[in-house]
Amino acid sequence: MSAKVIDGKAFAAKVRGQVAEHVTRLKDEHGITPGLAVVLVGEDPASQVYVRSKGKMTLEVGMKSVEHKLDANTSEADLLALIDQLNNDDTIHGILVQLPLPKHLNEDLVINSIDPSKDVDGFHISNVGLLGTGQKSMVPCTPLGCLMMLRDHHGSLSGLNAVVVGRSNIVGKPMSQLLLGDSCTVTIAHSRTKDLPDVVRGADIVVAAVGRPEMVPGDWIKPGATVIDVGINRIDAPEKGEGKTRLVGDCHYESCAEVAGAITPVPGGVGPMTIACLLANTVTSCCRANGLDEPEGLTA
Ligand code: GUN
Repeated sequence: MSAKVIDGKAFAAKVRGQVAEHVTRLKDEHGITPGLAVVLVGEDPASQVYVRSKGKMTLEVGMKSVEHKLDANTSEADLLALIDQLNNDDTIHGILVQLPLPKHLNEDLVINSIDPSKDVDGFHISNVGLLGTGQKSMVPCTPLGCLMMLRDHHGSLSGLNAVVVGRSNIVGKPMSQLLLGDSCTVTIAHSRTKDLPDVVRGADIVVAAVGRPEMVPGDWIKPGATVIDVGINRIDAPEKGEGKTRLVGDCHYESCAEVAGAITPVPGGVGPMTIACLLANTVTSCCRANGLDEPEGLTA
């Protein structure tokens, strides 16, 4: 079997189109423009790239974009004061503090100082608790993007065996909660899991989010299963020339694609969905803040 390739780039463009439609409606019918504030502390090059891309796409869907770039030595008090100001700004519906933060800043304290209703990353402890108890929350963007792709491919996920490889707070744990919410039978596997290949072989849905290049080979995949590869790893690619690199996922693409029913490529799979879902969460937050119906299909 050769797997259907789930085109995350096209899917993300579709989601951004839906977000843009909601933004237009909010402006035309209610005179409201959703606003997203991104806070970057320091000059980490990868973070700068992400933040630039987020700002550009926020404007493209018609929302207000605010960027706060703070010096790497910014004190915790100054950062908390900025977050307080954004929490109290009615034109801002989403606040994202780019991670990782410089070492002298307490990441948990900073994230938990964001108003949970504006926490479009879904990292605030209140949102973690709400998701864990099946209540309305802000859902972390990458798992939300994976869920949207899975729902689109399968229709109903009810009763399917899902194995999430990886137990991070950002992907593995919220992903497993979302799959459980859609009535999957969920296993969270990780580096200490016994007989990991056999555990994965039982899965109708595999979500790989471990950060280890090409760790999941095709012979771990049940024929016809859906493989969602969250990993983005840069590895040496001497075949492309000296010093060259390429991006690979946590799954070995070629061998998994031979067995799977559907698979997300790297790049161009889950990656583009993360920012699309950030924009979706901002619209959702804006609707909730104004007592309006939430956009259908853009939430968990
Ligand atoms: N750094 C890398 N990915 C993310 C993300 O999704 N949210 C935040 N806040 N920081 C990140």
